[in-house]
Amino acid sequence: MKIVLFGHAGQLGTRLHTVLAANAEVRGFDRDQIDLADLAQLRNVLAAEQPDVIVNAAAYTAVDQAESDATGAARINAEAPRAMAEAAAASGALLIHYSTDYVFDGSATVPYTEEAATAPVSVYGRTKLAGEQAIRTAGAPHIILRTAWLYSNRGKNFLKTMLRLAEERDELRVVADQFGCPTYSDLVADATGEILARMYDNGAPRAALFGTYHIACGGTTSWHGFASKIMQLAGKTRVRVTPIATADYPTPARRPMYSVLDCGKLARAFGIRLPAWEDALHACLDDRGRIDQR
Ligand SMILES: NC(=O)c1ccc[n+]([C@@H]2O[C@H](COP(=O)([O-])OP(=O)(O)OC[C@H]3O[C@@H](n4cnc5c(N)ncnc54)[C@H](OP(=O)(O)O)[C@@H]3O)[C@@H](O)[C@H]2O)c1
Repeated sequence: MKIVLFGHAGQLGTRLHTVLAANAEVRGFDRDQIDLADLAQLRNVLAAEQPDVIVNAAAYTAVDQAESDATGAARINAEAPRAMAEAAAASGALLIHYSTDYVFDGSATVPYTEEAATAPVSVYGRTKLAGEQAIRTAGAPHIILRTAWLYSNRGKNFLKTMLRLAEERDELRVVADQFGCPTYSDLVADATGEILARMYDNGAPRAALFGTYHIACGGTTSWHGFASKIMQLAGKTRVRVTPIATADYPTPARRPMYSVLDCGKLARAFGIRLPAWEDALHACLDDRGRIDQR
């Protein structure tokens, strides 16, 4: 099986490359090899590579920056996935794509299912939703995995920021009124490998499994709860973690106040359920020092 992986140097993509390469020939691409804003070049790469599977872990993930660069964000988050899906529809390749809890407006009080109404409150969320819709419209064999609050030991993420700030400060002031599911991105990569393995039956992907799935760690917390647990597990208990309101930490982009994902569909279809967020955080901290590099 030949896989083309976009975003292979990103937080999720780095681990994905390692996982997928265990059972397939993986051709990884990042910005150095191809700028996804160049749609003609993207189409040429896919035509030349003729992959069985396209995995798209690339995205315009700078949520605040997207507010002042809607065109750039739409190019990477919506138009590039559309081009990938059109190529997949033409060749019969399977497209695996990642989306976000930020497609929801955060007004719910129970976890969002895949069927819940979307209503993004940011440019990033709107462009990611447009990417999902473009993939569905193109009619390609596809799996869209909506995930949330990703962190790991690489790249830029909340865990690494909190650990760095804990070295510099005695007090961390962290938003306590936004709720979600912190998710260790290595677990999403590992689950993607399992999904792919279960997708194939006699060499062809099982159409009954195509569609959109939520994938996140179990349980719910706030950014403040997450930061407090990081300090506890990392042994930084001298650092005070003070709860603040979203209103006290203004950002260019609005975030949903509640974006917990119901991941039951993934469990029913593939038998995959990620661990509770606290256990995953423990595992991630244990994994420090032996991370995949790309
Ligand atoms: N991070 C989260 O909290 C989170 C939450 C929910 C969903 N997601 C989704 O999960 C997926 C993976 O996210 P992640 O955290 O792994 O993101 P990431 O670390 O920012 O990785 C994204 C990758 O895409 C690449 N990329 C961006 N623009 C590009 C362009 N024009 N051409 C080529 N490559 C480009 C980036 O390269 P550069 O480094 O050169 O920019 C980077 O390697 C994305 O679909 C994201 O929307 C993320």
